[in-house]
Amino acid sequence: MTVMLADGRSMPRLGLGTWPMNDDEARQAVTHAVSLGYRLIDTAASYGNESGVGAAVADAPVAREELFVTTKLRGSHHGYDAALRGFEESRRRLGLDYVDLFLIHWPLPDRGLYTETWRAFAHLREQGLARSIGVSNFTPAQIERLVAETGVRPVVNQVEMHPGFPQRELRAWLAEHDIVTESWSPLGRGSKLLGEPVVTDLAAAHGRTPAQVVLRWHVQLGAVPIPKSADPERMRQNLDVFDFALTPEEMAALDALGTGVRLGGDPDTHVEL
Ligand code: A2P
Repeated sequence: MTVMLADGRSMPRLGLGTWPMNDDEARQAVTHAVSLGYRLIDTAASYGNESGVGAAVADAPVAREELFVTTKLRGSHHGYDAALRGFEESRRRLGLDYVDLFLIHWPLPDRGLYTETWRAFAHLREQGLARSIGVSNFTPAQIERLVAETGVRPVVNQVEMHPGFPQRELRAWLAEHDIVTESWSPLGRGSKLLGEPVVTDLAAAHGRTPAQVVLRWHVQLGAVPIPKSADPERMRQNLDVFDFALTPEEMAALDALGTGVRLGGDPDTHVEL
């Protein structure tokens, strides 16, 4: 149950998101998730819970190499030296020798520093401190600029994606460029999307929950969803989406829920520190 990354490494097909959890919540949730079989854990410097995630990883009853830990650089640390410092701070809070995937959290185009930041990411990968490097919330134009100026390609772009904002064009572009799409807020943050008749009807037809239907949609598209839940039963069902399939018509019905309205920030304008 992994996807191959363009750098030759592999990544689990589904993970646990940890926003918004504090250190204690993250520690508990990650501990439980690992016991359920989750192997991909997603955090970020700006979530303020890397210490909690790290504590759970340290105590996990599985080898470090079996876990895939992602964190992200916050906006205040754009720039070459600042990015190296930001990584080191994250790594210390996590208590890890290396992270599996390090992402630039937002491009912040008005700051004009993401290319310099990316050079630092390339350095971290060469040193083996970040095993894979990628971006989050980047547009194709922003990725093309990174590659043109540094020659180094991101292997993942983590973006807002759910049936309400299905990212049709972006995911096709990323697939063409051998970049894995990772979906944040894959459940559209919960209740509204999960209560849509299209979703609840499909859930009833398959004997599944609405969340499982939506997560199956991501997996069938080749995207890696990172649903957030702190609830043990929801965490269990969210991982249990690999033994049923949606038909092409059912996939299209979910895609048709797209509204063009984001729940989160726009990559061209979002400001985050
Ligand atoms: P909770 O943490 O109380 O389980 P997203 O990952 O799209 O941001 O969605 C997260 C939201 O969806 C949270 O409010 C979470 O609540 C809720 N959620 C997560 N899993 C499920 C599920 N299986 N069924 C219903 N709601 C869920």
